[in-house]
Amino acid sequence: MSYQGGYVIIDVFLWMVGINTIRHNKLTGDIILSRKSEVNPPCTRSAAGYFTSAYFGARLKKGLVSAGIFIVFWGVAHIASAGQYWDFPPLPEPYQYGDLLIDRTSTKNQVKPVFFSHWSHRAKYACRVCHFELDFAFKVNKTEMTEEDNRNGLFCGACHDGKQVFGHTEGNCEKCHAGENISSHDKFNLLARQLPKTEYGNKIDWVGAVRSKRITPRYSIFNEDEIPMAFKKDLELAAEWSFVPPAFFPHAAHTPWLDCANCHPDIFNIKKKTTKHFSMKYILEERFCGVCHLKIAFPLNNCTGCHPKIKGK
Ligand code: HEC
Ligand code: HEC
Ligand code: HEC
Ligand code: HEC
Ligand code: HEC
Ligand code: HEC
Repeated sequence: MSYQGGYVIIDVFLWMVGINTIRHNKLTGDIILSRKSEVNPPCTRSAAGYFTSAYFGARLKKGLVSAGIFIVFWGVAHIASAGQYWDFPPLPEPYQYGDLLIDRTSTKNQVKPVFFSHWSHRAKYACRVCHFELDFAFKVNKTEMTEEDNRNGLFCGACHDGKQVFGHTEGNCEKCHAGENISSHDKFNLLARQLPKTEYGNKIDWVGAVRSKRITPRYSIFNEDEIPMAFKKDLELAAEWSFVPPAFFPHAAHTPWLDCANCHPDIFNIKKKTTKHFSMKYILEERFCGVCHLKIAFPLNNCTGCHPKIKGK
């Protein structure tokens, strides 16, 4: 069904006065009105007679019900195509999408805030390495890390130890304490060029990049043998508004990146459809899917990324 904008209003009106369907001939652009003569009053009936007939009463009732239904339908179709119903946070450029400035303690201690780029790290390490093994929070400035921790091999220091990557020594301070976003456009292009593309976020199809083995982010830095659990269940999360196409949740797209414990039980209950307040409003408040799909994984503007049956973008 493709009811759009004003057509719905016209259609509801025509339904009420007895013309049953309105169709749009896509080839000629003509609008075709058709009547079901078996239920419609004869065309010869006078207008006055028609509007006072019992038939019209029933027609009106039916018309109002369908008006309600169509307006909801139209609303949803409209939201879906415009995507303007919610306030989305502004999106950074693809080469800066997922970049952070960490400043829980830096400015207070007379050093510049710390620059951290997700795209450059996630190409090499699964989210799980940092957000499970190293215990970084899914929220900027939440992790209680200090420079001393780092020098003792915790947090950034688990890799930035001067052997695997540059360490916490003189000359390197400003590589992290840059105080501003220093994401390299050239380095990004070099990476992005080798990977499959999408329209959103980093404009990199990260799932496709892993599937085609063009990148192999490490799943663990502590145990080489550790591999993702083969849990491939796809879930269809039906929306509470019955006209909204359901959201699609593929476990298999997530498990190469994340630990089960990254999502269960803190973000989602393990039982389908038991997560309370599971709706776009809360997702936009950085809950549920919004924990990741606002700033790091592909953003919410990509409606069809999660609702494959929504029309438009
Ligand atoms: C190399 C380490 C590393 C990797 C890999 C990594 N992250 Fe992060 N992530 C961080 C750090 C550090 C922070 C900031 C934490 C803080 O300031 O407390 C962060 C913050 C976040 C935030 C909060 C952003 C905000 O603006 O509040 C989200 C969401 C997130 N990461 C998701 C992911 C996802 C999803 C992946 C995998 C695709 C991932 N991260 C991979 C280190 C990493
Ligand atoms: C690999 C990245 C990295 C490098 C290199 C680095 N730091 Fe940090 N540093 C951090 C992070 C992350 C924090 C926590 C920042 C925050 O929460 O504001 C931090 C915090 C600090 C703080 C805040 C107070 C404290 O003790 O936690 C100081 C001071 C500091 N660093 C000094 C330095 C100096 C001096 C150097 C160079 C010798 C250096 N850092 C190199 C990542 C780095
Ligand atoms: C799991 C290992 C790992 C952790 C944890 C890690 N890094 Fe890195 N980081 C790397 C590697 C490897 C590189 C080199 C990437 C390259 O050259 O492509 C790197 C590069 C960087 C760079 C250079 C610019 C760039 O983005 O490529 C910065 C800045 C940086 N890391 C900051 C940090 C900060 C700040 C933290 C902690 C909040 C951190 N890293 C945690 C592995 C790690
Ligand atoms: C990251 C995944 C994701 C993206 C992207 C996403 N949604 Fe949703 N959406 C959901 C989930 C999950 C629900 C809740 C489903 C349920 O009720 O079980 C939902 C619910 C909805 C609902 C039902 C009403 C409500 O607020 O819960 C509407 C309407 C909706 N989405 C429209 C959109 C539109 C329009 C876009 C694009 C602008 C979009 N969604 C993008 C995951 C997503
Ligand atoms: C990115 C987040 C995420 C990760 C990672 C994740 N899950 Fe889930 N899981 C979900 C969501 C969302 C649901 C549906 C919750 C709801 O409807 O309330 C779910 C539901 C489930 C269910 C119930 C399915 C059903 O049909 O009722 C099981 C079992 C489950 N997950 C197991 C796992 C296991 C095992 C892993 C690790 C291999 C895992 N999950 C990793 C998000 C995740
Ligand atoms: C803990 C972080 C996290 C949460 C929570 C999360 N996702 Fe994702 N999701 C990811 C990452 C990382 C990817 C990989 C693609 C990317 O980064 O853009 C991904 C990919 C996907 C894909 C793409 C599959 C493909 O084949 O391209 C879908 C669909 C998806 N998520 C839906 C959801 C829905 C719906 C929810 C909420 C029910 C959700 N996700 C919650 C992190 C998360």
